[in-house]
Amino acid sequence: MNDPTALDRVRELLDPALLDLAALSPSARGYLDLLGEEPDDESPVQWLMRSGFLPGIYERIWRPAVLGAMKGPFGPSTAQEMALVGRMLELGPGDRVLDVACGPGNVTRTLARAVGGEGLAVGIDASATMLARAVRDTGSENVVYVRGDAVDLPFLPGCFDAVCCLAALYLFARPFDALAGMARALRPGGRIAVMTTRRVPFGGPFNNLVGAASGVRLFGDEEVVDALTRLGFSGLRHRAYGLVQFVNGRLV
Ligand SMILES: C[S@@+](CC[C@H](N)C(=O)[O-])C[C@H]1O[C@@H](n2cnc3c(N)ncnc32)[C@H](O)[C@@H]1O
Repeated sequence: MNDPTALDRVRELLDPALLDLAALSPSARGYLDLLGEEPDDESPVQWLMRSGFLPGIYERIWRPAVLGAMKGPFGPSTAQEMALVGRMLELGPGDRVLDVACGPGNVTRTLARAVGGEGLAVGIDASATMLARAVRDTGSENVVYVRGDAVDLPFLPGCFDAVCCLAALYLFARPFDALAGMARALRPGGRIAVMTTRRVPFGGPFNNLVGAASGVRLFGDEEVVDALTRLGFSGLRHRAYGLVQFVNGRLV
């Protein structure tokens, strides 16, 4: 739930150079709506994300089935993935963590437990229907949801201890601008964890087929690592499972 305390706390993190903070108020659905319109990157998958249908089945059915198939038999289960992301982000009590493209809040709620009552977990997503579900399914007072564009994050520089973006980078119109925005939102020493699609090495025609059939971007194994290196991250670690890759590191 977006209780007033969490909302007040997220207001302090928003960049007044980008937003008229005085004009902001929570929508009737319980999240802070910074988007008048949907981002201009509509594709069939994005349409699905913004439908009324997917949020209801996403966490229990869609994510385990679709991502599970993409990760393959040796990939982590959802529970193992959450534990892995927890280790990558090194969250502790009192941390502020940003979940970019939070969908129905399935990851945000896990992050919120790790940062405790003194901490804050902020989930941002462009889909009104996903966020409505996130608000409905979240009871923690240290969580706040924001409707905004991941490619144009509205937060003050350096205001988060950790940021993650799982299962979404491939949907963004400008994924590398989104990564730059995540770096900007992190304080020095802040941690990042990204999980996205992957081009299978030497799988040219297969990659092309999967990319064309799904309509989503597949990233090379070095692409995200290289982008994060250029953005000033160190200690980068890459893990690959089938069509999925995880990358994590720390901002210098
Ligand atoms: C597959 S869900 C991922 C949810 C969650 N992060 C997870 O790991 O299960 C992808 C989410 O990305 C969101 N999304 C796509 N493009 C976006 C954008 N430009 N800005 C914010 N959210 C976006 C969609 O609305 C959707 O909720």
